[in-house]
Amino acid sequence: RMKICINTGGGDAPGLNAVIEAVTMAAYNRQWEVYGIKSGYTGLLNTDEIIRLTPEKVDGIASIGGTILGTTNKGNPFSMPVCNAVGECELRDVSDRVMDNFKRLRFDALVAVGGDGSLEIAHQFAEKGMPVVGVPKTIDNDMGGTVITFGFDTAVSIATEAIDRLHSTAKSHDRVMVVEVMGRNAGFIALNSGISGNADVILIPEIPFDIEKVCDKLMENELNGRKYAIVVVAEGAVPKDGEAISKGEGEAGRQHVVLGGIADYVAKEISKRTGKDSRSMVLGHLQRGGSPTTFDRLLSLRFGAAAVRAIEAGKFDHMVALKSPDIALVPLAEALGIEKRVRTDGDTILTARDIGICFGD
Ligand code: F6P
Repeated sequence: RMKICINTGGGDAPGLNAVIEAVTMAAYNRQWEVYGIKSGYTGLLNTDEIIRLTPEKVDGIASIGGTILGTTNKGNPFSMPVCNAVGECELRDVSDRVMDNFKRLRFDALVAVGGDGSLEIAHQFAEKGMPVVGVPKTIDNDMGGTVITFGFDTAVSIATEAIDRLHSTAKSHDRVMVVEVMGRNAGFIALNSGISGNADVILIPEIPFDIEKVCDKLMENELNGRKYAIVVVAEGAVPKDGEAISKGEGEAGRQHVVLGGIADYVAKEISKRTGKDSRSMVLGHLQRGGSPTTFDRLLSLRFGAAAVRAIEAGKFDHMVALKSPDIALVPLAEALGIEKRVRTDGDTILTARDIGICFGD
């Protein structure tokens, strides 16, 4: 009789609860015991918060957003801030305490659900001898080794719906609406929602943009009778002359922190250069909230069940991955070594260009 546990780490993504439900049910149906670790790895430091997961506990949670286990992106046991009474903090390696608790509680395996940060930690624990199976998660879809991660389809659907709604208000006022979507390092959400939502311009980190080219496109549209425009910009998009406008502060992909938002910058530049009335907005965490789409729900359930099969097969230090049409197991070290980005010669970009969308390049 196996005794396994599961945690969720990093930013939440729609589908996490579906993974928890599938892991619990697949384990229960093998007569295994399943426990939920609260708040990423921190629940293995303070073990009071470990909960038993049963069919009753997970019944119906697959359709609910967030994670019933809670999550954090500040809980790396290999580099944990430890503070004294006067608030002075230092980073310490407390991973041995996690290992000790894991062994003391007689867990046979951990299912670690998370993005590249959490799965890097999972891999480090695997190297210390913990039997771990990873489940990749990110709404940005920038994790290597898998065709797609859960949460992405939901984020794209929410962004597309928002863009759809912007058309009527933009058209009524002959305005340019600039909408910022998530995607720090990769432009998958911007690209997919921008194409689906009939955007005029899409700006992504993989294609540094020239604001003049963006303005040229809008003026060309105007001559053709389309007086309003929708510009979709990924939060990590960078202007070609980014150095100049960032005043040297911050790394390339985070210049918007300095600027008060890349969407704000783009909207102001468009107004200044074309005289067109422009507005900007940031969709932000709306893209991560609420129920997963059917696609994400199903993918999450498949990932969860496959993780339990991996444990049964003794296949540790691997993560489950979609290799269409099947779920495969990929070594964590291999998946973590891949930086997945939008392929600028891929067919999605070609589709966008074919239908007249401008990338500002
Ligand atoms: O990686 C997922 C993501 O949603 C990014 O798209 C975004 O930049 C980031 O997380 C936001 O993080 P936080 O929840 O810490 O604000």
